[in-house]
Formats: sequence, structure tokens, C-alpha cells
Amino acid sequence: MTSKQRPGVDVKTGYDAWARNYDDMDNATRDLDATALRQTLASVSANDVLELGCGTGKNTAWLANQFGHVTAVDFSASMLNVARQKASAKNISFYQYDISKPWPADSTKFDLVTCNLVLEHIADLHFIYKEAERVLRPGGQLFLCELHPYRQLKGGQAQYVSRTGDSIPIATYVHSFAEFINEALAVDLVVSGVKEWHAPSDDMPRLLSLLFVKR
Ligand SMILES: C[S@@+](CC[C@H](N)C(=O)[O-])C[C@H]1O[C@@H](n2cnc3c(N)ncnc32)[C@H](O)[C@@H]1O
Repeated sequence: MTSKQRPGVDVKTGYDAWARNYDDMDNATRDLDATALRQTLASVSANDVLELGCGTGKNTAWLANQFGHVTAVDFSASMLNVARQKASAKNISFYQYDISKPWPADSTKFDLVTCNLVLEHIADLHFIYKEAERVLRPGGQLFLCELHPYRQLKGGQAQYVSRTGDSIPIATYVHSFAEFINEALAVDLVVSGVKEWHAPSDDMPRLLSLLFVKR
């Protein structure tokens, strides 16, 4: 593991606090991620989808509209409460779960696993890739979209604004570009797409998205 830790408040505590205004505050990263997911997955066909770290459900309703069934997981009860109100389609199942622990999902159950703006909070990328590879069917795909490592190295980090108006950083890990790729290759996931995403005023890429296929 080559990740570097950045201090901040405990991740679950931070998102429980952020849930009240995550959807309402200006957030170019959140909005660009929504674009990246929709553009990348519009041409993908899948029935069973697993969404890791669904948060307030920004992407969940779109995934449910596009695909057969969405299993959406997050460990923050407050983020999940917002998601449940926003995305109430019958083909969505929400679960509160910590994805850094072994996943209670059958092997080869899913056609697509998505993970958006979550891995900066996960120390061990290898574990996530290994579990994703296990739960994907052969030919299934893993889509990641994360804060770009360049931006992390420049100090970018998830942070919320408290009730008193303070910006509170949430604990994160910096994963290098090489780590994102090599840890996937180590579990035999094949890279099928790499894209860097800019918001209109950005002078460097804001997001890195990766698409992997299970052989
Ligand atoms: C920046 S939000 C992104 C939410 C959503 N994917 C989006 O793009 O708007 C990160 C989410 O990951 C969740 N998360 C972080 N670490 C997690 C873990 N170990 N297990 C489950 N969820 C986690 C947080 O609770 C939070 O809802």
C-alpha cells in the first residue's frame, strides 16, 4: 500500500454531519462526478448493479432508471436517510454497511459495481478491488470516479461546512495514479477506460475515472 493519510474528522462522523447540506451547497466535484457517471455508463448494459458509498443518492436514482436493480451501500445513516427520501424506486435496495469490511454479497452476483468519490476515505484499495472482482460476473465492469491524485497532492480533500460555518476536513488517503491501476491489475481486473475530467474553470483535472472489466 502506498497511500498517504491526511488527518481529518472520523469519516462516518463527518458524513453524518455533512448529510444535512451535502446536496445544497455549491460543489463542483460532486456535480462533475454526476456528469462523469452518466456519460460513461449511458452505453453500458447491466442488470444487477452495486453502488458503493451511495451517499445522498445523487447517482442512485439515475442508476435505477438505467439498469435492472441497484444495491446501494453506505455506512453513514444520515447520508442513507437522505438517499432513501430521494431515490424511492422499487428496484433500489439500500444497506448500511462499511465497505472496508468483507462484503456480505454472493460471488458473481453483479454486472456492474460503481464507486464515486469514496476511495479517498479507504486505506486499502486492494481490498476493495478484490471484493469487487469477487462479486462481479465474468465480463462485469467496475466504474470508479475519484478526486484526481494531482488535486489531492495540491491539498484537495473532502470537507464539509459545519453549522457554525467552519470548513471541517474529513480524514482521507492519497492514492497515486499508479496505485489505482496496479492494485486492480493485481486482482486481474483489466483496464478498459481512463478519463480525466475538468470543471469549466479548472486548470488541472478534478476527477479521474476508471473503467475495469472482469475477465
Ligand atoms: C463524497 S460522498 C460521495 C457520495 C456519492 N457517491 C456521490 O458521489 O455523491 C462519500 C460517501 O462515501 C461513504 N463512505 C466512506 N467510507 C465508507 C465506508 N468505509 N463504507 C461505506 N461508505 C463509506 C460516506 O459515508 C459518504 O456517503
